[in-house]
Amino acid sequence: MEMRNGEENKELLHSQAHIWNHIFHFINSMSLKCAIQLGIPDIINHHGQPMSLSQLVAALSINPSKSHCVYRLMRILVHSGFFTKEKITETIDEEGYLLTPVSRLLLKDEPLSVRPFLLFALNPTTTWHHLSEWFHKDDPTPFVTAHGRTFWDCVGHEPRPFTEAMASDSRLVTSVLVKDCRRVFDGLNSLVDVGGGTGTVAKPIADAFPKLECTVLDLPHVVALLKGSGNLKFVGGDMFQAIPSADAVLLKWILHNWNDEESVKLLKKCKEAIPSKGGKVIIIEMNVENKKKGNDDKSVETQLFWDMLMMTLFMGKERIEKEWAKIFVDADTILKTDCSCPGCHIAESNQKDSLEKKDDENPGPLNPMNSWLKVVANTPKAVENGMPLIAINDGNVVRFIPPLVEVGIIWKITFFFEVVR
Ligand SMILES: C[S@@+](CC[C@H](N)C(=O)[O-])C[C@H]1O[C@@H](n2cnc3c(N)ncnc32)[C@H](O)[C@@H]1O
Repeated sequence: MEMRNGEENKELLHSQAHIWNHIFHFINSMSLKCAIQLGIPDIINHHGQPMSLSQLVAALSINPSKSHCVYRLMRILVHSGFFTKEKITETIDEEGYLLTPVSRLLLKDEPLSVRPFLLFALNPTTTWHHLSEWFHKDDPTPFVTAHGRTFWDCVGHEPRPFTEAMASDSRLVTSVLVKDCRRVFDGLNSLVDVGGGTGTVAKPIADAFPKLECTVLDLPHVVALLKGSGNLKFVGGDMFQAIPSADAVLLKWILHNWNDEESVKLLKKCKEAIPSKGGKVIIIEMNVENKKKGNDDKSVETQLFWDMLMMTLFMGKERIEKEWAKIFVDADTILKTDCSCPGCHIAESNQKDSLEKKDDENPGPLNPMNSWLKVVANTPKAVENGMPLIAINDGNVVRFIPPLVEVGIIWKITFFFEVVR
């Protein structure tokens, strides 16, 4: 047998632990799903103070022979940050379970609850078992390999869990949007939320801006039974065919569902829908591997999970900045912003320098993509400082900006920016 020294043995054991951790990653998700299905966060919340294990067991309607296993389920969920433990009273040495800010977001009655999203995302997970098979086949997605039809076909037959999942995510993002980013909607008379589902994003916007005429465009089966009111209406249609005209088009979690070619096609349709002067496209998406401070390994891993999900379900993708810039340039959209929302830092310095350098080095017609790359290359300071950059080329000046607003949501980074004609 090959002899190894102490260091090598240590490395070997570390490697084995790393593999085990990855093999069993799914147990985190499944334990959480189990807790949600058993209603544990709601039970603890309802209790109103640290809840002892025996109190929790008594409140759960489970088979008595499983009572002794509740401790183990709770132990892993405390470890992963969903619950915490605190002394029940000063005098008694017993600890009880409490919610954390994370599990509060999973309560049934929490207005911003992401519970429907969790239950949808974790049911079923069979598609993932077909990933390697898909690599050998010419099926468009692993979802098709697993189910013989596209994700959109499946959802068309049973839309509710998906639309509820989308709505639960949207409530959270929109609550930030209408509170902190009102300026984005300033001066607009009309807005179309393209692929806006059941109107979870458009409704609060319509309520917050009563003079703004809001239209939700989605597939006919999604909006068939939905009734608008006041300044909100629903329109059934195919966004790749036509988008109703408006001052602004909103795309939330749309472009990541589609490959670059389809995204460019869609952006061109958006462009047709908005006025040639002052119209805008507001995009809410993710910016992968954004090195901005606070975006740690776990956030990046979450973004990569999302990217794999998009590949598995839709042939879509989560994009890095250069990929965003490329589809904007290919769609011939002009990027521009003057937003001053919280979290928006416009990098003003170096703009002129960057432009002058570009002109010196590359005379001839302005190539927006080259300019973009050049601007980034010329601004190592900004990149060093962790500022994600999106290029703006309005024909006269090239500016660079970070995505306008970033909202960290349980490690998922959502940002939005405007594309202005
Ligand atoms: C990922 S969901 C996003 C929903 C919503 N924007 C949100 O963030 O909650 C994508 C939406 O696009 C819609 N969609 C898909 N294909 C479409 C098409 N060709 N035309 C219009 N809507 C479409 C789906 O029905 C779904 O509501």
